[in-house]
Amino acid sequence: MAIKVGTVFNYLQLPNVSKFAFVINKRQDGTFIQKGLFVYTKSNEGFLIGIIEEIALLNEYFTDALTIKAFNNNNNPNILKGLFPSEDFEFAIAIVKCLGLITFKDKEMKEIGRVQRMSYPASPGKGVYIVEEEILNKFLGFDIKFGLNLGQVKVINSKALVSMNRLLNKHFAILSISGGGKSYFISVLIEELLTRSEDFGTPSIILFDVHGEYLYLKNIPELKNKVKIQDISYFQIGIPKLSVYSFKKYQEQISTVQVRELSKYIKKLKKEKNNKNQYNITDIIKQIENEPDGNKSTKQALIGWLSELERLTLFGSQENPSLNKLLSNHTITIFNFQKEISIRKKQIIVDYICNRLFNLRRANEIPPFLLIVEEAHQFCPEAAHAKAISKPIIEMIAREGRKFMACLCLISQRPKKLSTTALSQCNSKLVLNIKNPYDLKHLMDSSEAITKEYASIISSLGVGEMLLMGNAVNYPVFIDVRERSYKSKTEEISLSQFCLNWQKKELI
Ligand SMILES: Nc1ncnc2c1ncn2[C@@H]1O[C@H](COP(=O)(O)OP(=O)(O)O)[C@@H](O)[C@H]1O
Ligand SMILES: [Mg+2]
Repeated sequence: MAIKVGTVFNYLQLPNVSKFAFVINKRQDGTFIQKGLFVYTKSNEGFLIGIIEEIALLNEYFTDALTIKAFNNNNNPNILKGLFPSEDFEFAIAIVKCLGLITFKDKEMKEIGRVQRMSYPASPGKGVYIVEEEILNKFLGFDIKFGLNLGQVKVINSKALVSMNRLLNKHFAILSISGGGKSYFISVLIEELLTRSEDFGTPSIILFDVHGEYLYLKNIPELKNKVKIQDISYFQIGIPKLSVYSFKKYQEQISTVQVRELSKYIKKLKKEKNNKNQYNITDIIKQIENEPDGNKSTKQALIGWLSELERLTLFGSQENPSLNKLLSNHTITIFNFQKEISIRKKQIIVDYICNRLFNLRRANEIPPFLLIVEEAHQFCPEAAHAKAISKPIIEMIAREGRKFMACLCLISQRPKKLSTTALSQCNSKLVLNIKNPYDLKHLMDSSEAITKEYASIISSLGVGEMLLMGNAVNYPVFIDVRERSYKSKTEEISLSQFCLNWQKKELI
């Protein structure tokens, strides 16, 4: 049974095509009308669905200053109240923003048809009802059968069953201040993806874990078989897998002329080794040293640059781990960057992994994947002066990855510092609390759907409250991110407890 909550009426210039107002029924059944509630009214075209945007209390009695004066001056307000029952004059109205029309395939209105744009206003006098869960799910574009349970739709408290296909078909970004709940949400998303039924089809997940926040997943009995942790202290870039231009990318002082020379040396080395895939930087340096011909200063410079690269202890004759063997469907591979402090090294590793994954995916040698980049502004910054080695490849995946089923998830606490090219390709945006006005403005500029009104709500969201918008849903919707099913033990330790533990350790 549809719950009637009010009646459409004429108020100021309303109803028009995009808004209508209704008088809220006096509450008898405990139904609570709130901002953000989805309601509908039957219009000429179908079911007109909207969201309550504003609620106002009106009382004619208190519109006249003289009456109020008389009311306040009277020593015994109860007498006046008896004469003028001012409370009876009070009524509440709600302003509804129309979102769209739903039509039904059958006369009994059981099978929901298409969702359309509205083109005609609601009719004054018509009843207004709360949207039932089934219609709402269809309207918002949730997937009841296979959807990811990410939390609850605000106000209505129905499950936000976001369609995996719609979320991962295009890239998405998770944005908020530090401590807004981005990593927590990612944990929820990972839980949902890893615990999906095997029959549903789930891509491989790769996660760049900058702070080691996700290592706990390996200790969860239900998940551990699907979790692989790769500590990047042991990561090795395979020199034979690098193009000659990668050397310039990782060591930008190498000039174009030197690159050309280097290319010749590497070619010779490959020939001499007779074994294309077994050489490292030391071999290249030896090759240059032993070469009788060639410009001496170019050779010296090249040896210098290559030795500097070698000192990063990132390069070897073979790639480790083997990226083409690492990934499989329905698993997560976490690259743990916790111990690495050099931003250049981190960027080189991210660049290498992204390049390899993108190329392997294009050649269909690895399964479709979701690549989650924490602290994305470090790896793909906007400013030209903040040069990042990994920026071009992340932008490339952002532009072209979708065609190859390579989905990117960018996480950042500074949207303004994140590459606009990459951010604008993130079709779905999951926005938690953002306070910084520059970040908010940047977000409004990069996405039409974020109006001033949404921006003001975003700046007041609590921890775990999130605006979900873009390709994943038909209409922007606020959700309360659900609690995680699995918890990390370290996270629950308070600061004071940690201090106590730490002292004890020192004393032993
Ligand atoms: N949906 C949520 N439910 C409960 N607690 C949350 C939720 N989201 C975040 N938190 C809490 O807020 C803290 C900060 O969240 P976190 O995800 O680490 O923030 P961020 O990654 O945005 O910096 C976490 O320790 C967690 O306890
Ligand atoms: Mg975080």
